[in-house]
Amino acid sequence: MHIHIFDTPGDVAAALARRVADALAPRPDLVLGLPTGRTPIAMYAELRRLHAAGEADFSHAVTFNLDEFAGVEPAHPGSFRQYMETHLFGAVNLPRDRIHFLDGAAPDLDAECRRYEQEIEAYGGIDLQILGIGANGHIGFNEPGEQLLARTHRVTLADSTRRDNAALFGGDQARVPREALSMGMGTILKARALILVAMGERKATWIERTINGPVTTRLPASFLQLHRRADLYLDRDAARLL
Ligand code: GLP
Repeated sequence: MHIHIFDTPGDVAAALARRVADALAPRPDLVLGLPTGRTPIAMYAELRRLHAAGEADFSHAVTFNLDEFAGVEPAHPGSFRQYMETHLFGAVNLPRDRIHFLDGAAPDLDAECRRYEQEIEAYGGIDLQILGIGANGHIGFNEPGEQLLARTHRVTLADSTRRDNAALFGGDQARVPREALSMGMGTILKARALILVAMGERKATWIERTINGPVTTRLPASFLQLHRRADLYLDRDAARLL
């Protein structure tokens, strides 16, 4: 894995956004895999800024988001879809029909997962997948456990994950859905390039194990060791144990 350490979270965000803009310039129809969470907020702000400055053109880009809460309508204020509207989609020239999202309110969630896999395939797979890492080492919503599923699937969220996402649901963990839909680890690892981004001391232990530890379903991020083109973008705090 290629490790890039930056002084501040702002430097990480600027470098990431620049990497996306630089990937889009020669390949306007780039297929991007996108994350949510607190970590990428500054990257999206930087992408909006680059777009406004004429330095990032999304008019031919294609996006697939990693995951969505089950039972949550796309228009729900706590949905990841709304997060993306706020932080990116509403402020750049990405055509609506090039945005791809799991619909957590689909009547048949298993069929919805299959549909998503087929759509990713139909676009020839993901070129650049950006990833955060959960406070328990999850990737997308692939939670640590006895096994990981390869393809897009329904997941039962860990209690700690529901606690971490409570802010999206009025600060009330009880209102965070118990299930979600997520790209599987195989879907993620099929992307041609991966970037894992982490900031802050809270992520330092998992980052150290992701890089130096065994590949284990107990730490989904450790599977990135198996990818031929995985970059880690870290601030000093997240890289503290390296
Ligand atoms: C959620 C998302 C993950 C993300 C994680 C980290 O659980 N499903 O894709 O990586 O949050 O969140 P944060 O960046 O807020 O630490």
